[in-house]
Amino acid sequence: MKEKVRILLPEQEVDQRIAEIAKQISDDYAGKEVHLICVLKGAVFFMCELAKRITVPVSMDFMSVSSYGNDTKSSGVVKIVKDLDEPLDGKNVLIVEDIIDSGRTLSYLMEILEKRNPASLRLCTLLDKPERRISQVVVDYTCFNIPDEFVVGYGLDYAQRYRNLPFIGVVEFSD
Ligand code: IMP
Ligand code: MG
Repeated sequence: MKEKVRILLPEQEVDQRIAEIAKQISDDYAGKEVHLICVLKGAVFFMCELAKRITVPVSMDFMSVSSYGNDTKSSGVVKIVKDLDEPLDGKNVLIVEDIIDSGRTLSYLMEILEKRNPASLRLCTLLDKPERRISQVVVDYTCFNIPDEFVVGYGLDYAQRYRNLPFIGVVEFSD
């Protein structure tokens, strides 16, 4: 099978929208410090672009959970592969995610992180596929709602490839 990637959201549009969301976050957290939690690996590119544009003090930590194998379908299994380095007590925590699909990963993650006594816990995602939701999650900041298509680029992979594309694209398969 051949693969090709069709551009869904060009780089400039993505960067512009991230700047808008960063501004909104900076306004909402005015006078506070925000502790960003990057969900590895997909959210790395988004986290960097977002963090650079937030004007309140920022600290960061990283976490890795597994939900997908080398396939385009969710396994439904969520496992902590790498936990956070720092405790969350009293922090204004903002989870930074690449994409919310079934919502299983995030509803699980929010539940665990809530138990660590943060002052607040919010969620920010680059992409959301609301049609695919199985587990309900409250998303505080969404850059783009997208249709039910498998996307890559800007940190998102298909079998670990395409993360470095500077835009968001749809993988198309043909014989
Ligand atoms: P959920 O638990 O079903 O919401 O899955 C979320 C995770 O699945 C994301 O963090 C991604 O790692 C992966 N994922 C879901 N949809 C896509 C997609 O279209 N492209 C690449 N990865 C995806
Ligand atoms: Mg992810």
